[in-house]
Amino acid sequence: MAERAFAVAIVGATSLVGEEIIRLLGERQFPAGEVRALGSPKTAGRQLEQATIGLVGPDAFRGVDFAFFAVGPMVASAHAHDAVRAGAMVIDCSSRYRRDDGVPLIVPEANARLLDVAAPPTLVASPSSTAVGLSVVLAPLAEAAGLRRVLVSTYQSAAGAGRRAVEHLSKESIALLSGRGDDDVAMRRAFNCVPQVGTVEIDGVTSHERAVADEVRRVLALPELAMHVTAVRVPMFFGMGATVLVELERPLDRATATTVLRSARGLIVHDDTDEGVALPTPADVVGSQATHVARLHEDRSVAHGLALWMALDSIEKGAALNAVQIAEVLLRRVR
Ligand SMILES: NC(=O)c1ccc[n+]([C@@H]2O[C@H](COP(=O)([O-])OP(=O)(O)OC[C@H]3O[C@@H](n4cnc5c(N)ncnc54)[C@H](OP(=O)(O)O)[C@@H]3O)[C@@H](O)[C@H]2O)c1
Repeated sequence: MAERAFAVAIVGATSLVGEEIIRLLGERQFPAGEVRALGSPKTAGRQLEQATIGLVGPDAFRGVDFAFFAVGPMVASAHAHDAVRAGAMVIDCSSRYRRDDGVPLIVPEANARLLDVAAPPTLVASPSSTAVGLSVVLAPLAEAAGLRRVLVSTYQSAAGAGRRAVEHLSKESIALLSGRGDDDVAMRRAFNCVPQVGTVEIDGVTSHERAVADEVRRVLALPELAMHVTAVRVPMFFGMGATVLVELERPLDRATATTVLRSARGLIVHDDTDEGVALPTPADVVGSQATHVARLHEDRSVAHGLALWMALDSIEKGAALNAVQIAEVLLRRVR
């Protein structure tokens, strides 16, 4: 018997994340009979390779089974419930629903079980790319030895802030390399590091840093986890890296931690004890569907401490792939 084909809508088909979702649906052979690209009045009517962009609106979701939202939180807020009312299962990549108790926040490698229920949810949120990578790495460590405290420093590319930020970094880099000044730039991004991702809040923490810690606590179901994040924008176009310091509840030596992470889903652990083994830099992992770990070692400055380097493609595993994996789990429930 022929398998059922599903109608899939992508709101924000022109976004970095939306484009990648469309590509992954094809690559992973998601049973999409129709791929409906939706966008703003600016791009409605534009022809993409697979579809013509339609205008997002209350009537745009008729007949849609799965709707991916790869737009900002305000656009998601305005239209996600139209899609739910039309009968679609919505996967939202924006920050809009990440804190809503009634909306599961999912990283399939860590908590797909929340979708394994008799009546699957009609709206699911996908975390920020930093929280996705951290959840993939921390979930197996939490299970093996418990987490006491996590300290993270991230190095984030322009892509994390969307297509315009990538274009801006490109223009600014060219201007500086051409000997032209950057007088009209409020904060220089090219050839610089900016210790601010999101807005700085009254206590000095940025909105992004606070959100990442909250999202990881939610995904791991560890609401009291002591965690601190520092996020730095660095002059890369794509990819992201992070140093992660973990204090465990119970001892876990380097060899056992390596085995634990090697047997976890979605992770590639690079063995850097051999001379000449390349470390996974953000540039190396662009296009990879895995979260990469290297430099795993014991941090002897604390009891049961581990330190590691993590790198991932923030658009791929950090957003688009995570969203498609969520849809694949939901698909198994509705098929
Ligand atoms: N970039 C990342 O690494 C990353 C990681 C995780 C999650 N996310 C989240 O994923 C979402 C997309 O991020 P992105 O970086 O891929 O975005 P982006 O490249 O900046 O693209 C923004 C998108 O928003 C659409 N849009 C703007 N106003 C609209 C409106 N009024 N109606 C319909 N569409 C509208 C644009 O569509 P038009 O071209 O049609 O105007 C465009 O497709 C965001 O919520 C972001 O926080 C991003």
